[in-house]
Amino acid sequence: MTPRWITPSIVAAALGVASALLLLNLATLVAGNHQPWLVVIDAVFDIAVLALVAVAFVRMGLRVDAESERMRMALDEATTRLGAIVETAMDPIITVDDAQRIVLFNEAAERAFGCARHEAIGALLERFIPARFRVAHHAHIEQFARTGLTTRRMGDQSPLWALRSDGSEFPIEASISKTGSGARHYFTVILRDVTRRKAFEDALRRQQDELRELSARVLEAREEEKTLIARELHDELGQLLTALKMDVAWLRDHLPNAAPETSSKVEQMNAVLDQTVGSVRRISADLRPLMLDDLGLADAASWLVEDFSRRSGIACSLELPQEAGLETLERGIATALYRGLQESLTNIGRHAQAKRARIVLRLDGGAVLLEVEDDGRGIDAEDIAKPRSLGLKGMRERALYLGGSLEVAREPGGGTRLRLRLPLGTAAEGTA
Ligand SMILES: Nc1ncnc2c1ncn2[C@@H]1O[C@H](COP(=O)(O)OP(=O)(O)O)[C@@H](O)[C@H]1O
Ligand SMILES: [Mg+2]
Repeated sequence: MTPRWITPSIVAAALGVASALLLLNLATLVAGNHQPWLVVIDAVFDIAVLALVAVAFVRMGLRVDAESERMRMALDEATTRLGAIVETAMDPIITVDDAQRIVLFNEAAERAFGCARHEAIGALLERFIPARFRVAHHAHIEQFARTGLTTRRMGDQSPLWALRSDGSEFPIEASISKTGSGARHYFTVILRDVTRRKAFEDALRRQQDELRELSARVLEAREEEKTLIARELHDELGQLLTALKMDVAWLRDHLPNAAPETSSKVEQMNAVLDQTVGSVRRISADLRPLMLDDLGLADAASWLVEDFSRRSGIACSLELPQEAGLETLERGIATALYRGLQESLTNIGRHAQAKRARIVLRLDGGAVLLEVEDDGRGIDAEDIAKPRSLGLKGMRERALYLGGSLEVAREPGGGTRLRLRLPLGTAAEGTA
């Protein structure tokens, strides 16, 4: 870059002086013998110009010196600042060279690994990696060096483990970056001890499992209670009502000459009794269709769909698998499917404003699948998350507990589609 003080006028002046000096020197060379005063003037000019040039060079040298001193100081300051940042960082920072020998080991690293810096510097990074991960780590660093990316998070898929000097291990999260150019490269790893976070995550997962187990047990208990009440209603109350109906019939037969009011009262009693029998049957079936236990899921589902269609006026179609299989389902799976179907139909009746519904129950590989589609207004993501709505959430919990899944979504052409998938044979034991 040209210095700022070199302007066209300065260059012109310098050229002018140089040409004048050249002319003067030529003149002295030609006529100096005869004109001694010319020699004197020439000598004075030469010396003056030489002195000027010398002064200029000295000043330029001084300026360059000052500039390089300033740059050195700035560099020192930046290095000190960077060093301080690395030292005071909360997270361990380790830099290694191409041979994976440690060249930087900050204070946080000393604390985390229980190793003094002078011991760490020059050691191989492997020293801080549990033996079983060393080969994988080596491959990772080499691949990283080849790909030429400058930064990368490590251990995104599975947690990484680090090794302390005392032989204990701790889980870490780390990112790596490559610096340097040409033949020399350095790799800097910034890592974080995630022992506490991992402990929290593990505790949270355990709690979730416990809650899921608990909710399954609650469902099981409810299901058992409902079955019991349904049986009592159906058997006990049913028998008593039948006996009562027979008594009323007997009364009607033995009151041939009764007053018309008495006869009509007996007829009314008979009608109320018929209604009561119907109500008891319906209530007990709502609680738990005993045919689910006695006849299996296919018959119970058919009855449920027909009953829903009749009561709601929504046209329903039900597809059942050709092959046998639904009768022998585990009780927990059959109940989950039945309750899923019951909740889906109730939702269609309450929320969908649908005209048609299509229900498919089929066996698919090692799983049983329930699909319920309607042509109504369609469900929204916020609907499913409604805090007070527990129908779909309960269904999902039950599915997860049984190792299955639930998908509920709006269909592209409108309406809602629910898919409940439950694996056969791997269900948790003892669920209703
Ligand atoms: N078939 C459907 N069509 C449209 N919206 C639905 C359907 N099923 C459920 N929803 C919406 O999803 C919400 C959550 O349903 P659910 O968990 O069963 O709770 P609840 O029926 O008690 O409201 C409902 O309030 C409703 O807004
Ligand atoms: Mg509901």
